[in-house]
Amino acid sequence: MSRTSAASSTATATTQPRVGVVGLGYVGLPLSLAMHAAGYEVVGVDVDDTKVAELSGGRSTISDVADDAVAGAVDEGLSFTTDYSALADVDAVSICVPTPLGKSETPDLSFVIDAVERLAGVVPEGCTIILESTVYPGATSEIIGDILTDNGLVLGEDIYVAFSPERIDPGNKDYEPTSIPKVLGGITEACGDHAAALYQPVFDEVVRVDAATEAELVKLLENTFRAVNIGLINELAQVAHELDVNIWNVIDAAATKPFGFMPFYPGPGLGGHCIPIDPFFLSWKAGQQGIDMPFIEHADSVNRGMPGHVVDRVVKQLNTRGTALSNADILVLGVAYKPDVSDTRESAAIDIIDQLTDWESTVTYHDPHVPTLDVRETTYESVPLTPQRLAAADCVLLVTDHSVFDLDEIVAESSLVFDTRNATSEYEADNVVRL
Ligand SMILES: NC(=O)c1ccc[n+]([C@@H]2O[C@H](COP(=O)([O-])OP(=O)(O)OC[C@H]3O[C@@H](n4cnc5c(N)ncnc54)[C@H](O)[C@@H]3O)[C@@H](O)[C@H]2O)c1
Repeated sequence: MSRTSAASSTATATTQPRVGVVGLGYVGLPLSLAMHAAGYEVVGVDVDDTKVAELSGGRSTISDVADDAVAGAVDEGLSFTTDYSALADVDAVSICVPTPLGKSETPDLSFVIDAVERLAGVVPEGCTIILESTVYPGATSEIIGDILTDNGLVLGEDIYVAFSPERIDPGNKDYEPTSIPKVLGGITEACGDHAAALYQPVFDEVVRVDAATEAELVKLLENTFRAVNIGLINELAQVAHELDVNIWNVIDAAATKPFGFMPFYPGPGLGGHCIPIDPFFLSWKAGQQGIDMPFIEHADSVNRGMPGHVVDRVVKQLNTRGTALSNADILVLGVAYKPDVSDTRESAAIDIIDQLTDWESTVTYHDPHVPTLDVRETTYESVPLTPQRLAAADCVLLVTDHSVFDLDEIVAESSLVFDTRNATSEYEADNVVRL
């Protein structure tokens, strides 16, 4: 492994590269802006013509990126299109398309395959292709390498292919996308050299590993590490509750140990596109080698059980107050999968609302970042957060702790606040219950 900071980079390009970014979502849009900011000539390509029209009109399509940032970059020459032929004269392309799980928790790489098949007929010889989408170890070589070399091009000589995992943390204002060290590995050494030369001027630090497979496994290690540790703490939270021990105090005290411990916190369940999904890329690949990964399976089962655990706890709280869940009015606060983002993919709030309505309770939600939410066949609209709405609810269930919430008002006006995030740790009130 080698680490190169932008300051010590020896890149000596005299003309700025022309680069393409394929897939303009949570990963591709910030990457396009970062490469534009580094002075590159950038063209973004997406199959979604509505998204391309929005971006071309200078409007952002994700909450982490402001309209001004897109509008300013478009004015300076950043362009967006649905037309892959715009990539005919690029020096490099970064691929940021979705990689969901298919049936039976099998990696679905069809978006990557589609993107690479389209690129194969377009990009020029000498081009560098960097895959950012999360994949299982070996996929960059097996899929991209194979498709691009189908017409006789030689990897590492005529075309360069590398994997560089995206590590952004949406909603986290402490880290700019370019300040997170960028791990990168090429299929061949020359592939890695070309990719590193492209990314060094863009990112504060490039962490070069020896192979694309190493870079692929880095991403899966990071996300599996989180999923498994969150599973452990969610399991412990349930035990601590039965023992009448405050799990949050336990974690805070354990975290005073200056070595050998890293705090993870319980919650209503995993969400987002990475932590609940990526470990299965690893366990699927391990299964191909005849190896089971029971840690992953068990953590997933604990984490998926958390929405049900939350609902059980709410039922008990309501019962002690003489209200049956079937007659209860529940206000869910925050439905995005994490604070201060609008992304609801895999959000635990969806499962919780689904289970609450199964019990025929009346459910509304408020989320300043999410105007509407689909739960099975029902589309909910975010209701205004008024003192009257808070007072009318039998339970205010805090699922996502957005920083804009006024907890003083929420605690003052509600008859019961069930807090899954320990946001109310400062409040010692009878109407506040924590996970
Ligand atoms: N969202 C995150 O926080 C995050 C973090 C790290 C890694 N990742 C990984 O990055 C990858 C992209 O995730 P995302 O959250 O940006 O997804 P996204 O759904 O927000 O965006 C993907 C975009 O790709 C476009 N697309 C699909 N097929 C295409 C094709 N053939 N050609 C061109 N465009 C195409 C879609 O229209 C969409 O705009 C995934 O593998 C994900 O696991 C995501």
